[in-house]
Amino acid sequence: MPAREAPTDLTGRALAEPAASADLARLDEVRVRWLGKKGVLTEQLKSLGALPVAERPAAGARINEAKVAVQTAIDARRAELEAGEIKQKLTAGRIDVTLPGRGEEPGGLHPVTRARLRIEQLFRDVGFTVAQGPEIEDDFHNFTALNHPPDHPARALHDTFYIEKGDAPDGALLRTHTSPVQIRSLRAAGGRLPLAVIAPGRVYRVDSDATHTPMFHQVEGLLVDTDVSFANLKSILHGFMEAFFERDLAMRLRPSYFPFVEPGAEVDITCVECGGKGCRLCKHTGWIEVLGCGMVHPNVLRSCEVDPEHYSGYAFGMGIDRLAMLRYGVNDLRLFFESDLRFLRQFRGG
Ligand code: DAH
Repeated sequence: MPAREAPTDLTGRALAEPAASADLARLDEVRVRWLGKKGVLTEQLKSLGALPVAERPAAGARINEAKVAVQTAIDARRAELEAGEIKQKLTAGRIDVTLPGRGEEPGGLHPVTRARLRIEQLFRDVGFTVAQGPEIEDDFHNFTALNHPPDHPARALHDTFYIEKGDAPDGALLRTHTSPVQIRSLRAAGGRLPLAVIAPGRVYRVDSDATHTPMFHQVEGLLVDTDVSFANLKSILHGFMEAFFERDLAMRLRPSYFPFVEPGAEVDITCVECGGKGCRLCKHTGWIEVLGCGMVHPNVLRSCEVDPEHYSGYAFGMGIDRLAMLRYGVNDLRLFFESDLRFLRQFRGG
């Protein structure tokens, strides 16, 4: 068996070495040399078996004490070295805290959101409240209660996304328009009338080209009261269009068919591009179509337990994206939904 130094002698050296280590790497070498798997003190513990049995406990205790002492010396030196390093880094890497920050560019609202908020505000100003309804609708609210009886051909006018059985309650579909919110709001009013709401939101149709995307935005309007007239409808819409586009506009109504209104009309305004002279946007007619509207059909009132003998109402629905396109001069609807920042950044300002 090789001659071994007595543990006490070793401890003297083992305690001197950490203090003499100039940096953390050297200090770690010291740790490995004394305390590592094959370190001097570790080896000594392993070779205790070679001592006479009677000497083993005392020798073992000494070696362990030595290990603790060395570890303590190493820890103390490490703390010293680390503090020194931090100080060094702080002085070496001094930074100029007075330099202006690189900053973040302020974000902006999406043009469709801007248009929606504008519409909401303009209608709030004249006493409407903002309502919401679910995007996953049922047949009753999307069609039946809106006077589309089962098998009525008008259902085919909408290219509906139906949700497969098993994924949702039977008859579930993605709403094809915001008109079902008429039904929900009127039923929720529970006879507390008058009611004046607008309901903006997403709607879905199986359709995709330069002017149609499978998801788009509409805003629905509904007013129910005693003695509501078509003239009331016309004046509120005209006022809205002039406020939204911030200019004087002519407006005309053309008779049209929607199952849930009678009479129903489509509304055109002076072309905002050419001022009515005729251009590509208005297909040289001077007019552009902006919405559908009409007097609420008695069957709709009845389906919401409102007496059509006593109450009447008007309703309208328009495309928010379309209004945003017209207001901002965007000619392809798909640009709104491609999330291309080069396009969207242009709307950051006003
Ligand atoms: N819901 C119709 C559509 O999506 C738009 C509409 C027309 C809504 C006439 C109305 C209305 O409230 O009175 O095509």
